[in-house]
Amino acid sequence: MTSRHLPVLDLAPPAVAPDGPRPAAAAADARVAEFRPVDQALPRFWVWTLGCQMNKSDSEEMAGRLLATGCAEAPGMEAADLIVINTCAIREAAEAKVIGRQGALAALKAANPALRVVLTGCAVRERDRAGLRRRFPAVDLFLRPDEEPELVERLGLASAQGPVGLGSGNGAPNPPGSAVAPRTAATTVVKGVAVSAADHLAGSRADAVASGAVRRESAVAAWLPIIYGCDKTCTYCIVPFSRGPERSRPFDEVVDEARALAAAGYREITLLGQNVNSYGHDLPAEARFAHVAEARRAGRQIDRASRPDLAELIRAIDALRGPDGGLAVPRLRFITSHPWDLSDRLVDAMAEAPSVCAALHLPVQSGDDEVLHRMGRQYSIAHYEERLGRIRGAIPGIAVSTDVIVGFCGETEAQFASTLRLLETIRYEQVFAAAYSPRPGTPATRLPDDVPAAVKKERLNRLLALQEEIGFARNRERLGSVASVLVDTLERPRGHDHAEEGGEPPPPTLAGRDPFAAPLPDGWVRLAGRSRENRLVHLAGPAAIVGSIVDVRIEAVGPYSLRGVLA
Ligand code: SAH
Ligand code: SF4
Ligand code: F3S
Repeated sequence: MTSRHLPVLDLAPPAVAPDGPRPAAAAADARVAEFRPVDQALPRFWVWTLGCQMNKSDSEEMAGRLLATGCAEAPGMEAADLIVINTCAIREAAEAKVIGRQGALAALKAANPALRVVLTGCAVRERDRAGLRRRFPAVDLFLRPDEEPELVERLGLASAQGPVGLGSGNGAPNPPGSAVAPRTAATTVVKGVAVSAADHLAGSRADAVASGAVRRESAVAAWLPIIYGCDKTCTYCIVPFSRGPERSRPFDEVVDEARALAAAGYREITLLGQNVNSYGHDLPAEARFAHVAEARRAGRQIDRASRPDLAELIRAIDALRGPDGGLAVPRLRFITSHPWDLSDRLVDAMAEAPSVCAALHLPVQSGDDEVLHRMGRQYSIAHYEERLGRIRGAIPGIAVSTDVIVGFCGETEAQFASTLRLLETIRYEQVFAAAYSPRPGTPATRLPDDVPAAVKKERLNRLLALQEEIGFARNRERLGSVASVLVDTLERPRGHDHAEEGGEPPPPTLAGRDPFAAPLPDGWVRLAGRSRENRLVHLAGPAAIVGSIVDVRIEAVGPYSLRGVLA
């Protein structure tokens, strides 16, 4: 075969102007002018993300899909021609934040008639489609969480630069020009009413990953969704109505994504799901998982025989090796674990897999069995404490954090006092607490929301004050110890007058000798990262260590963070 010489065009790279308006579609070389995409067809986008890590991860995928289509990211919401709002609906305040911005969005649309606003995330529930227009009048397109992979197609952007996203489900990207047929969705039905459609997410995530259409916020630590939706029936919770039933991603697909992340240099992976302990029960049985023989009662009997579970997944990711033969993923985390489904198999895997960090988020919600029963949480405090005892026995020094709801329907002062006592006995490293907020359509709306707002607030303040003391005491125990820190943040330079420079104010109380009291050595900057126990650690060092795992001697602590120097 003879080789043919093709004319080589010396094309200038595209002009990059992240802050200004996009360059006109003038071709860098006149000979290829006709092949340039039509510039105005590609909006500059801005994604506004509220809510939990699952939303952050979903937003990374939406931004990635838009970038892969050829859209550029706007430097801010005001400069965008496409605003994607990824909403949270967990409490009324989260939705109110977006409702409160409708006027400002309408003003932006008046100034820029090309502007389109897409609203997605947990505020978009099938049952409530009609109410969406009224509550979010500035929005042009509503997408349920399971419809997010269709964003590019639904905006008519797909054909501009070739297909992204929705593929055949076999992991391969679509062939250029192929028509994309959205897969039909399974549906969650509650009392004969469709509340949420199951989605194509589990299939299309692999396509997005394979085609590079995930724009990760960090180059160091990555989110990795493993299961979508939630099959629990916590009576206060909107999530099952927003995100539909549980759908696990195929085992090998998750391991492949972890392997690719490791190869791309990621040091930490957090496996995501509303209840990661449910992972795998909906996947097909396979001979290679024949040793998994666990049944589970989760409101209904779930047969886990021969199906992968989180323990298998953790072990498989832990077994990945880098070129040097060491752990390919040095740090592995997962959220969130429902206490009822936390199996011995998982505890053993956590204890035996060196990559698994010594930190566990185990939401308790209340310290009182009656309240837990009304919340539909399935476990008792005795069960919770038994599970925690087992974990602490297996992984000494593990840091445990939790979520608490105060002022749930019918919560008495005595029942609230039980929650405070539980915090004192368990001594969590961190507690995320909020006042109960009734969510439309959830079972708890049939119970009277009878704890007055002022009482909820007062209980919340008491709980937070107690936890501040406990967290501070916990952190003081770490004074003088050496923490292994994955440095992921370059902090804004600031002087001693923190507030004036717009940085975080210094913690009100600090125990130990503050390593930042004296000027930093030349060439050093302020950095931050997380210890394996998931403690926020501030440190000083050369900027080049961002992305590295370093040993830090803890010299000062506050209630919410630690400060140290390179050991
Ligand atoms: N799937 C996770 C949590 C999802 S929501 C889990 O089961 O733990 C995160 C937290 O929000 C919950 O743990 C709960 O503490 C809180 N939350 C959920 N619904 C709420 C409501 N209606 N009012 C106040 N807090 C709520
Ligand atoms: Fe909500 Fe309960 Fe599911 Fe968590 S486990 S998402 S609190 S229903
Ligand atoms: Fe909010 Fe939805 Fe997460 S309601 S907390 S964004 S799952």
